[in-house]
Amino acid sequence: MKVNLIGAGNIADYHARSIKSLGYELGVVADGNEQAARRFAEKYDCRWTADTTLLLSEQADLVTVAVPNAYHFEVAKAAVNAGHAVLCEKPMTRSAENSRELAELVRKSGNPFFVGYMKRVHPTARKFKEYARRIGTMRSGLVRVFHPMPEASWTIIADQLAKSPKSTMDGVFVNSGSHMLDLLLHFAGPVRRVLAARMQYRDGCYPNVDAMTHALIEMENGATVTVECGWLPLSGVGRRENGWDELLELRGDAGLATLHTTWWERPQFESPVAEIWDEALRTRESFNAGMIDNFEEEYRLIRAALSGEDVPLATAEEACAVDTLIDDIFAAARRSEI
Ligand SMILES: NC(=O)c1ccc[n+]([C@@H]2O[C@H](COP(=O)([O-])OP(=O)(O)OC[C@H]3O[C@@H](n4cnc5c(N)ncnc54)[C@H](O)[C@@H]3O)[C@@H](O)[C@H]2O)c1
Repeated sequence: MKVNLIGAGNIADYHARSIKSLGYELGVVADGNEQAARRFAEKYDCRWTADTTLLLSEQADLVTVAVPNAYHFEVAKAAVNAGHAVLCEKPMTRSAENSRELAELVRKSGNPFFVGYMKRVHPTARKFKEYARRIGTMRSGLVRVFHPMPEASWTIIADQLAKSPKSTMDGVFVNSGSHMLDLLLHFAGPVRRVLAARMQYRDGCYPNVDAMTHALIEMENGATVTVECGWLPLSGVGRRENGWDELLELRGDAGLATLHTTWWERPQFESPVAEIWDEALRTRESFNAGMIDNFEEEYRLIRAALSGEDVPLATAEEACAVDTLIDDIFAAARRSEI
């Protein structure tokens, strides 16, 4: 499989490493920043260009879009229009409206299109699907996303926003909450409505970068889900006591299923853990598939999907549902500010 990559930043390393370790070909990398493109190409022994159009004119089995969130819409659209199969980093776009347009374009084109919600492809997360079915009628849920953030980082963010107020930076809710909302929709089905939400900001960061989000959601299945998401300087909390406190909890009348996910930066060092308390058996069962790199698993499954296999990768439609929920939570939070 030959992959071409747009964006040579932080996350591009994870993509290139996976492509290489699976023995796939990394053809060319494109980045508007020529220096970044050249450095990346030297590191991964591939060609580079600063011109995305040039990359899109070249044959590839897959084009990966790894540019900042704000540019996903225009770059992914160009890749689909050029006839490519696409892996677009998450969130698919920064608005439900853009995501609907992109999903419609993908549907009309018939091109394969995947969105990088790679937490759902880990074998532990796939086992969680079975646990989620065993909880009976779902009554309640919890989506928790707390990540450790040193206090000093807030000054850096506020300074950056003061210098460029139109910066396209996002906060923890969009960047990390989107992953966990994808898991919620993937395992518990669609949302009926957002009942309430509140967002809190640090000085100088409003409205670009949220510090804390709470939301209350009503699901189509009737259950109520609480979302709590934030950056706090707590470094020893969470299941592994490393500050990474991420949890999806689905509670029904026959059981409680939990999924502790992992630090995205270290997929090769940590495994998610899925658990179920089964009321009929009066037993707790636990599953841990081991240190499997989510990003590598994502590319392995894309190759399988391109060969016609049915795989649990996020589709444009599913990613659009996440972006709609994100918009709805922002809107509910704005209503609560009044
Ligand atoms: N899956 C995950 O867990 C995960 C984790 C981190 C980041 N991400 C996602 O990866 C994406 C990139 O994040 P990052 O941290 O690598 O950002 P980054 O800022 O480190 O890198 C982005 C690169 O894209 C280039 N770029 C910007 N606009 C461009 C354009 N229009 N055309 C070509 N190049 C362009 C920039 O010059 C930069 O080198 C984001 O969407 C982010 O949400 C996903």
